[in-house]
Amino acid sequence: MAAIPKILVFDSGLGGLTVYREIVSARPNARYVYVADDAFFPYSAHGEAALVERIVTLMATLLATHAPDLVVIACNTASTLVLPDLRARFSVPFVGIVPAIKPACAASVSKRVSVLGTEATIAREYTRALIRDFGNGAEVTLVGSARLAGYAEAELNGAPVADAAIAAEIAPCFIDRAGRRTDTIVLACTHYPLLLHRLQRLAPWPVTWHDPAPAIARRVVELIGPPEPGKPAMTQFMFTSGAIPSPVLAAALLQFGIKQ
Ligand code: DGL
Repeated sequence: MAAIPKILVFDSGLGGLTVYREIVSARPNARYVYVADDAFFPYSAHGEAALVERIVTLMATLLATHAPDLVVIACNTASTLVLPDLRARFSVPFVGIVPAIKPACAASVSKRVSVLGTEATIAREYTRALIRDFGNGAEVTLVGSARLAGYAEAELNGAPVADAAIAAEIAPCFIDRAGRRTDTIVLACTHYPLLLHRLQRLAPWPVTWHDPAPAIARRVVELIGPPEPGKPAMTQFMFTSGAIPSPVLAAALLQFGIKQ
C-alpha cells in the first residue's frame, strides 16, 4: 500500500458525504477522491441490469484515472446490487454499505424495527435476505422512500424542503401496535443522515436512527491501516456530469472539509 493511500468514495450523489466524513475523521492522513455520479442520479430509478452496467463501466474509467488503493461504494442502492460484479472484475478492494439490519435488530428493545431506504434498496433480495438471516426475532417494516434522497440533495443545494414533505416520507416507519412501538430505524440510504436533525425533530416519538457509516470507517481503517502522523486529508470532488458545484453547494462541501 502507498505511504499516503488514495481512497475513492463513490455515490450516486451527495449522500456518500455522510460516509466520507466518518472515514476522513478515522483516517485523516490519506488522499481522497469523491465521485458523485449525478449524471445517473437517482440510482433507485434504474433497473438492476442498467445499474450494474453503468457502475462497472464507470468504475473501470475511475480506476484507470485515479488508481486508488481502496474504493468505498457509499451507496446502499448500489452496494446491495453491484459489489459481487465489482469484486469479480477488479482487484482493488471494495468496501460497500448495506442496510445495518443485524445491529439494529439486535439492539431493538421493542423488537419493532423499520428499514428506511430507497425503493430499489427495499426491493432488493439482498435486503430481504439480511432480514431473514439477522432479524433476530424483530418485526421488521420495510419502507421505500421515493423522495427522501432527492430532498437531501435539494437541502444541500440550498432549496429548502417543507417539514410536511419529510414527515410524510418517514411516517410509515412508525408503527404502534399491540403495545409495542417502533424503537429503531435503519437509515438504509447514505443521503438520509444529511437530514438527521429534521428526521429527529419530525419523528412522532423518539427512536434510535441507525447509521452504519462509523462501522464502514472502521472497516476502511482495518484494510488501509491506521493513520501515521502527516498531512491532513486532501480531497478531490467531482460530478460525473462535469458540473461545477454552485456557490451554495461549495459552501456546504466546505462543511465536510472539501475545498475543491
Ligand atoms: N445514496 C444512495 C443510497 O445509499 C441512494 C440515492 C439514489 O437513489 O441514487 O442508497
